[in-house]
Amino acid sequence: MEHEAAGLLSPLGVWLEGTAASAAIRRSLWAYPLASVLHVLGLGLLLGSILALDLRLLGFARALPARPLARLLVPMAATGVALQIPTGAVMLLADAAALLGHPLMLAKLALVALALANVVLVHRAAGPGLAALDGPLPPAVRRGALLSLLAWPSVAVLGRAIAYL
Ligand code: HEM
Repeated sequence: MEHEAAGLLSPLGVWLEGTAASAAIRRSLWAYPLASVLHVLGLGLLLGSILALDLRLLGFARALPARPLARLLVPMAATGVALQIPTGAVMLLADAAALLGHPLMLAKLALVALALANVVLVHRAAGPGLAALDGPLPPAVRRGALLSLLAWPSVAVLGRAIAYL
């Protein structure tokens, strides 16, 4: 769907779309499709691992020790985010004028920033080496897990909705 370029960051979007990098992405046969495929793969890695971990931190599957589970799932989630940001930036750059004027794209970027800030707070509450996950879980970890459980799927819904609205 063609997006109206009429929002807050549209001037920045127009400038970005005028850059050589943006033109190169639009000219390339594979840059955007590759970024799009990797963005979907990153989505699977991120949501698959983060939702399992958040549910455990919220008290589900108590038979599974939280700390060893986190030591498996946190690197997977981090790899997912590390994939999402550069691939998202490539797709954004290709259509920057319209996307930075699109309220859902701005809402998505704001929610990604909030979700990443929440990751920092949860890791701070979990302590070095996630040691605090061995005992009764600190309330800050549980609150963060709840916010994470709401925020990351919402980012995905916004990401998909951009193409339709
Ligand atoms: C970090 C978590 C992120 C998640 C979970 C996520 C999720 C998604 C999803 C589910 C889609 C639809 C993909 C499809 O069906 O083809 C999408 C599209 C997109 N995402 Fe992300 N994304 C994330 C981060 C980002 C970031 C950081 C950016 C920009 C810097 C970005 C830019 C885009 C763009 C431009 C599209 C295509 C929108 C369109 O024109 O339809 N994403 N994202």
